[in-house]
Amino acid sequence: MNSTNETEVVLSEYDLIVSMTDVKGFITYVNDVFCEVASFSREELIGKPHNIVRHKDMPKVIFKLLWETLLRGKPISAFVKNATKDGNYYWVKAYVAPVFTEGEITHLTSYRRPVSNFAKQEISKLYKHLKEYEATHSLDETYTYLMEYLKERNISYDQFVDRLASEHSISNADALKIDIDSYYIDHMIFKTNIARSVALGKKDIKVTDSCCCNFGKKLKQLESMPFTSHPLWSQVHHYHNHVHGLMKDYVQRAGEDASKSELEGILSNVDKDTNKLIGTLKNVIDTYVEEGISHE
Ligand SMILES: Cc1cc2nc3c(=O)[nH]c(=O)nc-3n(C[C@H](O)[C@H](O)[C@H](O)COP(=O)(O)O)c2cc1C
Repeated sequence: MNSTNETEVVLSEYDLIVSMTDVKGFITYVNDVFCEVASFSREELIGKPHNIVRHKDMPKVIFKLLWETLLRGKPISAFVKNATKDGNYYWVKAYVAPVFTEGEITHLTSYRRPVSNFAKQEISKLYKHLKEYEATHSLDETYTYLMEYLKERNISYDQFVDRLASEHSISNADALKIDIDSYYIDHMIFKTNIARSVALGKKDIKVTDSCCCNFGKKLKQLESMPFTSHPLWSQVHHYHNHVHGLMKDYVQRAGEDASKSELEGILSNVDKDTNKLIGTLKNVIDTYVEEGISHE
């Protein structure tokens, strides 16, 4: 698929690319990692249609599926090959979701994580095939074709993406039945939703205690596992409590009219602690998987 001089920009393990659009697909927010990876400045992206990073190898039908799902109010996972400003490309596994305000979709958010080489190979084959099909068929026909392809495998596109992603990239975590990526993303959604409510000037924002988010609940459930005796396990808890504490500070300081830079500083510490949390969790799990301690 890569017949030109493009070079792949490979995301690092902890990179998280975030963007937000309005309901028409015009970009309203990008994080720093987005700008770095795609080689655009923030000013070049804000207000532009999201197809600014569209890569020619992407089949149209995937975006049709993406938009139809989102506008029905549902989230979707997708593998996307994107183009950088300087003509290179990068692969992401995107989790794209609608954001509701008083029952209406007001924004769409995308959280993107790296893709394993295995998944890139497999998905490239499918996308190449879909592109070829699209060249001689209408978009609706290609859509039917994709649906048939998935039906034969008895899975939805989302499940196909998740299965392919978990196959190699998070094999250790998978062995322990922990989808680390999904907890990471949960926390990022938690953070972005709060920051958005603050930006909209909302008061009475409730920040949950660390035991009340999905990650916290999972930590509780895991307490009887052998790896929780690992000395680093207490650090996982520490970082997790800290992330929630920082978000509480954030809401409080916003209510006290703290400066924009102070608030941004708190959010950047949330990102740092979330990375430390995920890194530590991976370490604990890797140690135990290497030592062959089963989770059964
Ligand atoms: C939140 C959100 C994020 C998106 N991210 C991407 C992206 O990273 N790359 C991309 O090509 N399209 C992305 N899209 C889809 C684009 O809006 C668009 O449908 C796609 O690039 C195809 O463009 P085209 O219809 O002009 O060919 C995103 C859409 C939304 C709502």
